Amino acid sequence: MVEPSPEKIQKDILTFQNYMQKKYGGQLGIGTLPATDAEVIGEEKEKRETKPKGIKFDLKPEELESYLNQYIIKQEEAKAILATKVCTHFNRIKLGVQKEVGRIKNNIIMIGPTGVGKTYIIKLIADKIGVPFVKADSTKFSETGYVGGDVENLVRDLVDEADGDINRAQYGIIYLDEIDKLAGGYSSTGPDVSRSGVQRALLKLMEETEVDLKSPFDPVALMESAMQLRKTGKIKKEKINTKDILFIVSGAFSGLEEIVKKRLNESRIGFNVPSLKKKFAYLKEIKSEDLIEYGFESEFIARLPVVATFEELEVEDLYAILKNPNSPIILGKKRDFAAYGIEIEFEGSALHKLAELSYQEKTGARGLVSAIEKVLLIYEKKLPSTEIKKVKITEATVKNPGEELKKYLNKLIKKSHRLKSVRTG
Ligand SMILES: Nc1ncnc2c1ncn2[C@@H]1O[C@H](COP(=O)(O)OP(=O)(O)O)[C@@H](O)[C@H]1O
Ligand SMILES: [Mg+2]
Repeated sequence: MVEPSPEKIQKDILTFQNYMQKKYGGQLGIGTLPATDAEVIGEEKEKRETKPKGIKFDLKPEELESYLNQYIIKQEEAKAILATKVCTHFNRIKLGVQKEVGRIKNNIIMIGPTGVGKTYIIKLIADKIGVPFVKADSTKFSETGYVGGDVENLVRDLVDEADGDINRAQYGIIYLDEIDKLAGGYSSTGPDVSRSGVQRALLKLMEETEVDLKSPFDPVALMESAMQLRKTGKIKKEKINTKDILFIVSGAFSGLEEIVKKRLNESRIGFNVPSLKKKFAYLKEIKSEDLIEYGFESEFIARLPVVATFEELEVEDLYAILKNPNSPIILGKKRDFAAYGIEIEFEGSALHKLAELSYQEKTGARGLVSAIEKVLLIYEKKLPSTEIKKVKITEATVKNPGEELKKYLNKLIKKSHRLKSVRTG
């Protein structure tokens, strides 16, 4: 899609304005607003411009890393890379180096199987450093086809996240998940224009471009512009520069390890290729050319110079996640039961069994939530209607939730019978 020129937009706004006036006359108040309004707008603009241009940021890589260590199990390399590059990005902006020809921004690509902490790590980082943060799925853009305006909305969303503060938004983080779905620019009917189109629209943002605060496709924004034109005789065009916005993208990239493996095998003909046991171990050896082979435009990959690969989580890692007192998974479940005034406790052996069960699902730590839900649902349903105020989850409970609940309730009945007979006897 071709971007409309400012003249074209202005003309469309006038047409729209005339139409609205014909339809509603003075009722809408277009053109009847007091002149003082125009001055207020001017004042607001000035306030924004006098704000300090820099940002407050004094975190060091190792501080951010140790914060991440409190929550993220394993992924040592990814934690080190992300902590370092994110800190450097923001500290560098703070220095306020204005013009750097050919500067390469440290946009980051995260690669790894599902449920191993990719989204989690970014949420933790954004939370810790407190910059405006926007997360979106790349599939959103390929589904609707290539609409340049859509991708630019990511930048406008940052302004919303910054409560309208454009200056702050210009130092935000945009996180795009499922980026692998944008690869593979060829379908059975020829080149897939939509996916490579989205890549091209994104790479413009990832480098440096200016995005109009108001979308040319947004009727409300058009209307506001029309009113402003009427009042002030001009259209104030506010723009967001994407130069300092950090882009982080991630995906599972299934099949990518095969590409890496093939390249390694081909480049070492005659040598013994070290046999990497794990499927995902090959991802450690990844190079840009593998991502291009996977189906990305080379220009797009060039804008993502930092690669962080995430490892698969083993049973013991899943166990460590559950045992971590900061784990939102167990904390969340404790809160669910506390909502009914019930205290729930997990024995170590129960947590280990849960880790074993969810490992079989091959969805990383995501399996933990579903495994716990499977075991606890009948307890969550039954216990609030009983006298029970405390429950202990053992290995036996995890293996056989239904049987154990029955036993538990039987014991309770016997106990209350005993109490009754004591009282009546
Ligand atoms: N390495 C990890 N350490 C601790 N918790 C994790 C880890 N990986 C995943 N989790 C837990 O699993 C949930 C889902 O992981 P997520 O980051 O969304 O996976 P993905 O890699 O697919 O983006 C997280 O919210 C977190 O609770
Ligand atoms: Mg994710």
